[in-house]
This record gives sequence, structure tokens and C-alpha cells, in this order.
Amino acid sequence: MKRLVVLASGSGTNLQALIDAITCGELEAEIAAVISERPDAGALGRAVAAGIPALTLSLADRRDPAIRAAYDRDLASVVDSMRPDLVVLAGWMLICGTAFLERFPGRIVNVHPALLPDGEASEVTTSRGRLPALRGARAVAEALRRELPLTGVTVHYVTSAVDAGPLIAHEEVPILPGDDETRLHERIKRAEHRLLPRAVSLALAASNEEE
Ligand code: GRF
Repeated sequence: MKRLVVLASGSGTNLQALIDAITCGELEAEIAAVISERPDAGALGRAVAAGIPALTLSLADRRDPAIRAAYDRDLASVVDSMRPDLVVLAGWMLICGTAFLERFPGRIVNVHPALLPDGEASEVTTSRGRLPALRGARAVAEALRRELPLTGVTVHYVTSAVDAGPLIAHEEVPILPGDDETRLHERIKRAEHRLLPRAVSLALAASNEEE
């Protein structure tokens, strides 16, 4: 059975989508561990409820480069000890540093709440023409601020270019009249919950072909 390690900082609804997809047989994998840098992350409670080992790895100061680099090394060691086939960033709010990226080349995937292209282009082709690729932590608010006709969900491989790695799958999400950030993010998350398990399946299948 293919092994996933899930890194999650938030409420863990994407983790739950993976757990549910595994339970119903849609995703053939097991989750070896869930790791959060926040002890209060809802994702940890969801892991425990599902009988999955849950760990907190706290980061003392995210602005101190030495502490940050040491954290990346520690995180890489802990994740490596779980022998993952794939590392899934499911609402992980830290940028992955070099030590971490180099340990799992081509084996880290991320779910992002906006429509991104394949790679580093600044625009993405959509059913409503070319639109800006919204990267970073404020992508949902930014879609509203720019009054875009639509946004989306992307699952991509993680590289040192933040939110700009090779595409695995993406899906458009409409922006509707009266949307605020909460309402739009809820619609985006529903799409994430459909797309993430499928994209993880695709990434696992691709890793099989490489072996
Ligand atoms: C998701 O929208 C994800 O795309 C973003 O953070 C959110 C995490 O939600 N990076 P949850 O913790 O999975 O509910």
C-alpha cells in the first residue's frame, strides 16, 4: 500500500477528504502520519479520530533564518522516518525550504485555492480567457479584489518556486454575485475535496511508472 504523509496547519477538511476517499476505496493509499506546526490545528484531531498518528512539530520563530533552516531539516527527518511515497501539503502554511525539498524530489504535492498554470507563467488559460495566476496565502481574497469572473483549485508538485510547480490537476470555480471571502472559500474547498484525492491518485500512479 502506498504511504502518504500529510502536512496540515488548519482545520483539516482536505485531510478529511483524503481519509474519506481512502475509506470508500476511491484512493488506494494509507496515511502514515499527519504533521502540523500548530498544536491546535483541527487536522490533528481529525487524524486522531481516524486512528492516524498525529504529530506537532512547532516552529519557534518563522522569521529567524537559522531556526527556519533547522526546522526544515528536522521536518525532513521526521517525514522521512515515515517512509512516504508521497508528501501531501493539505493547507500547510509554511514555505518548504531547500533541506525539505531536496529530501523528497518530485514527491511533494500541494493544494492551492486558485487556478494556476503548469509551472511559473503569470497567467492561466481559463474558459473566460487568460486570467492572472494568484499565488500566495491571499489567493481567495485576491480573486475577489481583482473582480475576476472565476477562480479555481490547483494541485501541483512543490518546487522551490512557490505555488509554481508542475501541474497535476486543476478545476475552475465560479465567483458568484454577493460572494465574500468566506462564501467563496467554502465553494473552493468543496472543489478541493473532490480534486485532491483524484490528484493524489494520479501522482501515485505517476510515481509507479517511474519505478
Ligand atoms: C485550503 O483552502 C487550501 O487550499 C489552503 O488552505 C486551506 C486549508 O483548508 N492552502 P483545510 O485545513 O484543509 O480545511
